[in-house]
Amino acid sequence: MAEHLEISNGTKAERYALLTRQIEAVVAGETDMIARMANVASMIHHTFGFWWTGFYRTVGNELVLGPFQGPLACTRIAFGRGVCGTAWRDEQTIVVPDVEQFEGHIACSSASRSEIVVPLRQNGVIIGVLDIDSCELATFDATDREWLERIVECITR
Ligand code: SME
Repeated sequence: MAEHLEISNGTKAERYALLTRQIEAVVAGETDMIARMANVASMIHHTFGFWWTGFYRTVGNELVLGPFQGPLACTRIAFGRGVCGTAWRDEQTIVVPDVEQFEGHIACSSASRSEIVVPLRQNGVIIGVLDIDSCELATFDATDREWLERIVECITR
């Protein structure tokens, strides 16, 4: 079992680069999607110390809670609802600098202030989303988007 190495030094991009290499190694040893999601949620969460890091999977017309790290979360989100359902519908990453400014944001936790949601695409179909919440405003930027999009590709590849 690979130990998750502590990544605490360097710029955000450098930390993502190292994290992505570790994730590639971890997912290479496991084909099951849930197992992959579980370790990837843990690795992202503990590298950056986010408030909530996890996956929702598309099941019918809903997103259903998958592996995550952090406090209790809502279990089902309808297509087109909230940040997660909107990212699914629009098939693109959504960066929300201030959740209070996103109409329809679903507050699983009142501590969450900013958020990023990255869809997972497999064979042209969205099979789920990666959702990350921060307790601070404007945590996520183009660097997070770029690297998290690469990371979800590792999972669905
Ligand atoms: N805020 C999300 C709901 C999921 S929780 O943040 C874990 C949304 O608006 O879709």
